[in-house]
Amino acid sequence: MNSAIERYAPLCAPTRLLFGPGPSPVSPRVYQAMQQNVVGHLDPFFFQVADEIRTLLGYAYSTANTFNLVASGTGSSGMELAVANFTEPGSKFAVLSNGYFADRIGEMAARQGAQVVRLTQDWGRPFDAGQAREFVLRERPRIVAMVQAETSTGVYNQVQAAAEAAHEVDALVIADCVTSLGGMPVLVDSNGIDIAYSCTQKGLGCPPGLAPVTVSPRALDRLKKRATPVQSWYLDLQLLDAYYSGHKYHHTASATLFYALREGLVMVAEEGRENRWARHQRNHRAFVAGIEAMGLRMLVEHPGDRLWTLNTVSVPEGVNEAAVRQYLLEKRSIEIAGGFGPLAGKIFRIGLMGYGSSAENVMLVLEALAEALRHAGFEPKGNGLAAAEGKL
Ligand SMILES: Cc1ncc(COP(=O)(O)O)c(C=O)c1O
Repeated sequence: MNSAIERYAPLCAPTRLLFGPGPSPVSPRVYQAMQQNVVGHLDPFFFQVADEIRTLLGYAYSTANTFNLVASGTGSSGMELAVANFTEPGSKFAVLSNGYFADRIGEMAARQGAQVVRLTQDWGRPFDAGQAREFVLRERPRIVAMVQAETSTGVYNQVQAAAEAAHEVDALVIADCVTSLGGMPVLVDSNGIDIAYSCTQKGLGCPPGLAPVTVSPRALDRLKKRATPVQSWYLDLQLLDAYYSGHKYHHTASATLFYALREGLVMVAEEGRENRWARHQRNHRAFVAGIEAMGLRMLVEHPGDRLWTLNTVSVPEGVNEAAVRQYLLEKRSIEIAGGFGPLAGKIFRIGLMGYGSSAENVMLVLEALAEALRHAGFEPKGNGLAAAEGKL
């Protein structure tokens, strides 16, 4: 027994600087909220917190929807919830696919028995609005799904054109807002999004574990008319609503994670969503100015197509991407990420989001990246820090 105790020293997690695609740094206010007492999942206090989250989510998502709730799972559970509740076997499901996460949506829809059709675009490039519109009108699907903020490439996909066409053919619009909520405009209502889902560990500055979702009245109407039961019991929206609104036991939701999300959303409301977007945009632009001054290139060509939350930087010729990441982690305790699939080894993915999007962090990550690149044999061309400072 004693020897076992000796083997397990008190837990002591390292203080990482989380500048990858998520999780992002957790705000101290969120950590503090998580220290509150755990209450039961049917406690009146728990439902009060869930109700506050419902209202705060409407604000963060820029929607008048009142059907806003939280799935107990990471962002992927939001994705699965959106796909499972609105897909019926054999129905046509259109995906606009220009990255890893859009492919994941397509895979989930196929597993639900949908007939999946895809409009593809090269990774790192956005969709042409005309092409997206034409695709939707031609296919006439029941659902159109796309990723607003494609974390695998750093592209911000405009939703509006595809959504307008979708509504013309009476299709529902699913948008993955995992890397946009809390950092960039999601604009659920003005973009015509019917089902949006996100996560807690990026723009909201919370730990991972919940998926905030919003659903339009139009989508709820469709849900009520389903011919077949929703294939997933755990993510069935009507059962979840009976829990959060009807206070009927469904699962044991984590009070601690709900406290965290509530605090993260209160911080969005206090800062003001537009101010928050402006902060992310300013820090992103400063970061890009620094990157370009150093002689590096952004993967996404046009500034208007880039995410403000996650920067994708092309790895310079001859530099070992994994060695740079390893150096940053070991020498500076900084986490950044590399690319997936066709972008493996070709890009760095550097997140500045939520609580982590600050002028101080822009300077810190540029300085550390320059050091790591030098160590990998690449000499930055100019002074990235000075260029960034000029934009802050
Ligand atoms: C765009 C996008 N969608 C979905 C997910 C899946 O979220 P999670 O890893 O929280 O399950 C991610 C994760 O990074 C993402 O970036």
